Amino acid sequence: MPDFRVTAISKLHAEFSVPGDKSMSHRAAILGGLSNGVCTIRNFLPSEDCVNTLNAMKSLGAPHEVFDELEGYGPVRLRIHGQSMKLSAPAAPIDCGNSGTGMRLLAGLLAGQPFSSELFGDASLSSRPMGRITVPLGQMGANIETRGDKPGCAPLFIHPARLSPITYQMPVASAQVKSAVLLAGMFAEGRTTVIQPAETRDHTERMLASFHVATGRDGNAISIDGGQIPQACDFTVPGDISSAAFWLVAAAALPGSRLLVKDVGLNPTRTAILKVLGRMGARISEIVHHSDGEPIGHIEVHGAPLHGTTILESEVPNLIDEIPVIAVAAALAQGRTVIRNARELRVKETDRITTVVDNLRAMGASVEEFEDGMEIEGGAPLQAAEIESFGDHRIAMAFAIAGLFATGETVIHNTDCVNTSYPGFAHHLAAILRERSDAADFALPTVSRAQA
Ligand code: S3P
Repeated sequence: MPDFRVTAISKLHAEFSVPGDKSMSHRAAILGGLSNGVCTIRNFLPSEDCVNTLNAMKSLGAPHEVFDELEGYGPVRLRIHGQSMKLSAPAAPIDCGNSGTGMRLLAGLLAGQPFSSELFGDASLSSRPMGRITVPLGQMGANIETRGDKPGCAPLFIHPARLSPITYQMPVASAQVKSAVLLAGMFAEGRTTVIQPAETRDHTERMLASFHVATGRDGNAISIDGGQIPQACDFTVPGDISSAAFWLVAAAALPGSRLLVKDVGLNPTRTAILKVLGRMGARISEIVHHSDGEPIGHIEVHGAPLHGTTILESEVPNLIDEIPVIAVAAALAQGRTVIRNARELRVKETDRITTVVDNLRAMGASVEEFEDGMEIEGGAPLQAAEIESFGDHRIAMAFAIAGLFATGETVIHNTDCVNTSYPGFAHHLAAILRERSDAADFALPTVSRAQA
């Protein structure tokens, strides 16, 4: 993909929807493949990360048929054939690409199988910590080797094992770790319990309920009894609020703008960004129109002059993916914004504390870096710069938003990575740069495929 070339906009009046939620698409592929029948998934995210998980399920014996595709990307409407919890040995190592979610959830799924498997990923994923899942899965009896050049990192070699249930107190607030242990618990005899130090996104628990798999909840402890077979169901994935976040910030920071993002997931474990932008001075409302399993609705934003805020420790897990673009909002706001207790950012697709701080400084913002976050003194005008994404999708997109407010032309290099979470971002960016408000300008081209 060519570089993004971005100049300042004076107007943002738009209504559109963003592609499906990444977290839910991974989970729908996995649970659909484990279910006892045929599941139709609508608005699946056709990103590289989620397509890898879908293909992983295929290689484990759960095939799918594609009905509609986002042109040039991948499936948005598909049918997956569940195998009633009986997976088969993959013929080859499984490629998780860039996705920590894909690798960690699949490791939980594969930990208790009677066959061997191997999970590998790209250079970024091969440097991210896997001990956080191999430790609890090992306590359950799993036999997983991390054979990466970096200790504790992928590729993962997973040997056959029979799992026993555990009660596991997670040291980090991570939905990926929680989900890996719950998925492994589905293959263990008895009750597995995960205790999270703080609330994390609860899509796994909600989606298990949609598939009629019972989980228990007592405060921050979530339990699952092994041996339950997910009952096939159809699932419509809402738009991804983490993708919407880029445009929410652009609209919030531009006085006089109005943006309506339609049919987006409004799960309360994901909406902290709306509270933060509201505290910074934007006028934001959520209109939930559907709440069976996962709340879905519209978000309306009216821009205003923003001011700085302090991100609360309890908010961090619920806006961890939005912090790069919140940092951009902070640079555009008057006064100081404090983002601390966010050490987890250092082990995302890149070290997002360093990549955000370096890029904000390149655009003239005043930022102080800390081991666990950053403090930004906002309000100075941003200047266009040459920005490196470092292969991190959210860094590329966050700084495209910064470019909409900078003097001159900002160039973002290495933008292919946006396809890991937001196919169509370049199309939406182009429509916003043209200052269009016509819905047709934002529609992403879908093609129908003959039924396989
Ligand atoms: C995700 C959980 C988060 C998030 C990631 C998706 C998930 O990671 O950053 O993009 O789908 O469970 P952690 O659970 O490691 O915080």
